[in-house]
Amino acid sequence: MTSRYAVLGNPVAHSLSPDIHAFFAKGLHDDIEYGRILVPEGGFERTAREFFKQGSGCNITVPCKGDAFRFADSLSDFARTAQAVNTLKRMDDGSIYGDNTDGRGFAADLKEKGIAVKGARILILGAGGAARGILKPLIDEDPSSITVANRTAAKARALEELFGEPVRGEGLSEVRGGYDIVINATSASLSGSVPEVSRDVLAGSACACDLMYRPGGHTVFTDFAVKCGCPRAFDGLGMLVMQAALSYELWRGRMPDYQAAFRRFGGDA
Ligand code: ATR
Repeated sequence: MTSRYAVLGNPVAHSLSPDIHAFFAKGLHDDIEYGRILVPEGGFERTAREFFKQGSGCNITVPCKGDAFRFADSLSDFARTAQAVNTLKRMDDGSIYGDNTDGRGFAADLKEKGIAVKGARILILGAGGAARGILKPLIDEDPSSITVANRTAAKARALEELFGEPVRGEGLSEVRGGYDIVINATSASLSGSVPEVSRDVLAGSACACDLMYRPGGHTVFTDFAVKCGCPRAFDGLGMLVMQAALSYELWRGRMPDYQAAFRRFGGDA
């Protein structure tokens, strides 16, 4: 019987997830159907309950990851530290399990690209849900330091307090250079702007990554980083493919061919 999956969010019309999962399923000869479900404002629980009458699992996108976190009956450690869920799975007993594969997807993408996190000095711009979601998976890879810099400094300091070593929080305007990896986890790209960080910070770093993705593989942030002289910059497409692969593995017990998916969807692994 065909197993049903979907991405739930608002908007979902331009989500690449259905294409990526269809590609995975084809490669594994799995019989699945993967759709898009638009969640009306305030209607996550009702939409998810309706979906799970038949559905086996779903991905959750903006702005419903917090709703999905509250909806799940049980949670992975990653979901608990992120306080957000991007993957739900219906278990054999009918209960709903919530995981968050975004951060692990990001860490796996860095590995695929040959970028070492172990011993690296990392700067994360932004202290919202996206930043919070990548912290545990990055800490698990043993970097030498992680600085979270946010426009509203208090939110960055709150993450420092929550996670402890090696996380440090500061205001965006306090950021000086000395980083190996600079990650844009702000939502600034959505409005076509770049977080205000000095050009030297990007010029001196070995690579710059945006968690957002755009068709064509570059965002205002990656363009800015290259212009500042950063030798390597990429968007979040690789992360998107990897988080999808990890969701697929959670649902179906097999890891799909994510490298073929990178090639198909334009990642630069
Ligand atoms: P997400 O779940 O995508 O992280 P969020 O929780 O709303 O979304 O957080 C958005 C993040 O982007 C915040 O860190 C926000 O900074 P503030 O906490 O100061 O609001 C940051 N952000 C958004 N637009 C920005 C901009 N133009 N410049 C710098 N930071 C920006």
